[in-house]
Amino acid sequence: MDYSEFSTSIVSELPKEGLITCTSPSNIALIKYWGKRPVQLPENASISFTLDHCKTTTSLRYKKKEVLATTFDFELLFEGQPKPDFKPKIQAFFERIESYVPFLKHYTFTIETSNTFPHSSGIASSASGMSALAYCLMQLEKKITPDITDNDLLRKTSFLARLGSGSACRSIEGPVTVWGEHPDVTGSSDAFAVKFPDTVHQNFEHYQDTILLIDKGEKQVSSTVGHNLMHGHPFAHQRFDQATKNISTLKEILISGDLDAFIGIVESEALTLHAMMMTSMPYFILMKPHTLSVIQKIWEYRKITGSKVCFTLDAGANVHVLYPNQEKEKVLNFITNELVAYCQNGQYICDKIGFGAKIV
Ligand code: DP6
Repeated sequence: MDYSEFSTSIVSELPKEGLITCTSPSNIALIKYWGKRPVQLPENASISFTLDHCKTTTSLRYKKKEVLATTFDFELLFEGQPKPDFKPKIQAFFERIESYVPFLKHYTFTIETSNTFPHSSGIASSASGMSALAYCLMQLEKKITPDITDNDLLRKTSFLARLGSGSACRSIEGPVTVWGEHPDVTGSSDAFAVKFPDTVHQNFEHYQDTILLIDKGEKQVSSTVGHNLMHGHPFAHQRFDQATKNISTLKEILISGDLDAFIGIVESEALTLHAMMMTSMPYFILMKPHTLSVIQKIWEYRKITGSKVCFTLDAGANVHVLYPNQEKEKVLNFITNELVAYCQNGQYICDKIGFGAKIV
């Protein structure tokens, strides 16, 4: 693949110093990305809802060096404290993006970051964190290449975020984004995410996502390891084909607003993701007993009330409870009365569909 469209050369004077602050949200996949090939390219296309409340705020302070350095020079503060254990990830990110962001070694950076969601809540901070950093860097690049169009800026931001963490590329825009080339999605690409190109039905407007924190412990298997286990996985090809078909189906559902069909595909995708984990070699399980109890309760509630509430899962034990805005009051009652008991320390986060990264 030729990604030369994302290469820039330094043509104008580099700004001496400054500060850029932005926020970028997390996102929740409806059709899951699970399996990748080098470098950070997905085996199948995925679709997600961008979130609103769960986000990272990142400030990038930059100061131009007198002499060009041979190494990256950055300090990292997380919630006001130095965070040396995050540094290798940022170092690896800088190495990956260096050929596209030629000014990196010209600066000393101080990166200050904080999340709205509790630390170690089991909510992946890599999507919001990497997209926020990519967004700040591209705002700096914009000062150097002021002629860049808004569309090119968004595409390159997503392109860089992807190199930090695959799912991060879907957080730059909202409310629905697609990452991965797919014949039914105009403009889609393996290299960056795009906004869902068709009009999303009003049934999905302000769609709610209440995240039940079932287990806040460290995951036994990271996403990176999980993705790798799809190499040589006995069901890999069937899974990638299924995801490709599911994108076509979900596309029509998002346009038509058919909520029963939405429930069917979203829950099936969540369980298929975990089925892939259970059938990897070595196999593993990230759901906990309370994850299953919550799923049972949601199914019972739906049967009794006819509600359109459903669940999805990411690579962990937490449950994302998805429901239309019109049902907000009823479903929140159900959650507090019947589901909170399964949450660790009764914790849950109320979120909804959102619109992506922005400057503060
Ligand atoms: C289950 O984007 O966290 O949440 O590319 O290795 O950083 P890396 O993985 P990551 O994987 C996300 C997996 C998922 C599904 C999804 O978000 O599509």
